[in-house]
Amino acid sequence: MTKEEFHKEIKEAIPNVLPDAYKYDKTVNHAPKRKDILSTHEKRLAIANALRYFPKSFHKVLAKEFHEELKDYGRIYMYRFRPKYKMKARCINDYPGKSDQAKAIMLMIQNNLDPQVAQHPHELITYGGNGAVFQNWIQYRLTMKYLSEMTEEQTLVMYSGHPMGLFPSHKNAPRVIVTNGMMIPNYSQPDDWEKFNALGVTQYGQMTAGSYMYIGPQGIVHGTTITVMNAVRMIEAKGTSKGIKLFLTAGLGGMSGAQPKAGNIAGVISVTAEVNKKAVQTRFQQGWVDEVIDDLSILARRVSKAKEDEEIVSIAYLGNIVDIWEYFYKENIYVDLGSDQTSLHNPWAGGYYPVGLSFEESNQMMANEPELFKLKVKESLKRQSLAINLHASKGTYFFDYGNAFLLEASRAGGDIMSENGIDFKYPSYVQDILGPMCFDYGFGPFRWVCASSNPQDLKRTDEIACEVLEKMILDSPSEIKQQMQDNIQWIKGAQQNKLVVGSQARILYADAEGRMKIAEAFNNAIRSGEIGLVILGRDHHDVSGTDSPYRETSNIYDGSRYTADMAIQNVIGDSFRGATWVSIHNGGGVGWGEVVNGGFGMLLDGSDTAEKNLKMMLHWDVNNGIARRNWARNKNAVFAIKRAMNAQPLLKVTLPNLVDDEILNHLEFEK
Ligand SMILES: NC(=O)c1ccc[n+]([C@@H]2O[C@H](COP(=O)([O-])OP(=O)(O)OC[C@H]3O[C@@H](n4cnc5c(N)ncnc54)[C@H](O)[C@@H]3O)[C@@H](O)[C@H]2O)c1
Repeated sequence: MTKEEFHKEIKEAIPNVLPDAYKYDKTVNHAPKRKDILSTHEKRLAIANALRYFPKSFHKVLAKEFHEELKDYGRIYMYRFRPKYKMKARCINDYPGKSDQAKAIMLMIQNNLDPQVAQHPHELITYGGNGAVFQNWIQYRLTMKYLSEMTEEQTLVMYSGHPMGLFPSHKNAPRVIVTNGMMIPNYSQPDDWEKFNALGVTQYGQMTAGSYMYIGPQGIVHGTTITVMNAVRMIEAKGTSKGIKLFLTAGLGGMSGAQPKAGNIAGVISVTAEVNKKAVQTRFQQGWVDEVIDDLSILARRVSKAKEDEEIVSIAYLGNIVDIWEYFYKENIYVDLGSDQTSLHNPWAGGYYPVGLSFEESNQMMANEPELFKLKVKESLKRQSLAINLHASKGTYFFDYGNAFLLEASRAGGDIMSENGIDFKYPSYVQDILGPMCFDYGFGPFRWVCASSNPQDLKRTDEIACEVLEKMILDSPSEIKQQMQDNIQWIKGAQQNKLVVGSQARILYADAEGRMKIAEAFNNAIRSGEIGLVILGRDHHDVSGTDSPYRETSNIYDGSRYTADMAIQNVIGDSFRGATWVSIHNGGGVGWGEVVNGGFGMLLDGSDTAEKNLKMMLHWDVNNGIARRNWARNKNAVFAIKRAMNAQPLLKVTLPNLVDDEILNHLEFEK
């Protein structure tokens, strides 16, 4: 397809003539059939809702077709309208339009839907099983048309994938405002998502799916590397074991598949159990795991040998994680570090495979005997808890990886609660590692995308970012030197690690100062013509963007972790400080109703306005969260916010006074 044809299709949005009917393509990874949840009346409503997008002349054909889609897939995707052109991030100059900012957003949307990047590309799902960019293909088409028409005196308003339209605004306003899954709080149960999504009035935007900021698996590799590396440091500081460390975990799926690669970068022996042969093969073929073993005694011998030789190696075990925990205990194999990344946010429908059943047996039982399957999952979680406890009694450091392992194990009756009956025996990765070591200091998953789509630009931005950090580390306080060093090492190895899938993107953990300085250096390089335009952003899984009591804000202990003021304040603050687009979502990572999370995108074009915006917005985007973490009495955040106030006299944050335990101990409370 020529550039002109591509432009014509974008501008057309709804074709004058119906495109050919869709043929279900079995070679593509499709979303699972969704629950049949609507009443007859609601099904009529869903079809009428869908037909709102079309002229009357199409209604007869499409009403029948959408009825079928609803019956067959539980949703109306409007498959027929999936564009014929190649879906991928193009060079920004290849998009039609009047605004570079709008074109940058088109690039990011197409990247999120690229079949190389997206999990279920035909159902407009980028990742996480239900992380949607749009609910249907007409929403995509209309949005692209609006973006191709808009000027920088307008803002596009997106309601959960639906483009409500262009509204007059001003040059420094966001070009797009995205809300996803925002519900009246009482309507935020998982089945509410099923119902209102099927009706076509809301969607689950995950974190970076519905905000157009997904950059493929490298985001996960970086975060997992930081987690494993710091967990190793923690146990080294405790001195519980000497020499190379053994990391035992489970899951080689979407996000969990990053564990062995991260283990290699962090310098450990890793064993990752995975019951699904296909998932094992994929990761092995990709080179993300070094060896595959399917026999426990061979595995035990291989691990012992690697320990003896201090050999960094990643091993996939094709089988159940519970079997390894139990076998290693019996064989006296010491596990330094343990975790679990099975999909326990979805325990009854394929997220967790119980021990004692084969993969196929489980798949059959969950469909045919769901109650028995539930029982098997619970029994398995109890056995897993017991085995982990036995290892922990010998010194193993176990942490929850944000997959609801501890929550589900406790619900199953596993011995996983601490003595006070409120907390779990084991911490989450944010409580012990990412929270205090990164988020409280402002370090988080900053990222950028080169809008030229030219790998040379990415190479140059990597070098620029590295130069900035190497300069900064010379004056960094001792509290954050280690983080700075880790990030320098990451960016130095980034090209060699070949992490790009889709757009020319890079993730780099950085604090507020680092993000601002790197962005300013990019803007200068754009101004001088050294590189093309650059799009800044971040994962929502960050310092300020996400309120999530069992994950991002699990290390907030003043009771406020069940509030969502921080995430809402964040998106409002970003929007009037120069963000090119902002988004706020219900759900993301841990599930609908469990989290509120937001993000931004910002186009750097080398202008003075971009320089002013980046300084103002990135400063707020990080320091908002540090201020809140400081108010929750987090020691490292108090340090970081005081440092930020010294650097910027206009910043004045309320600091907490700490009360002596003695004073509280003297109070008498009625039971
Ligand atoms: N990596 C991260 O940074 C991160 C952060 C937060 C949360 N998580 C959570 O981690 C979980 C995993 O995410 P994902 O995208 O990899 O999911 P996924 O479903 O793609 O992968 C999970 C894998 O675990 C395997 N599995 C299930 N039960 C097993 C068992 N008993 N033994 C061995 N293997 C088993 C499954 O076959 C599957 O391949 C999710 O709950 C996610 O929310 C990950």
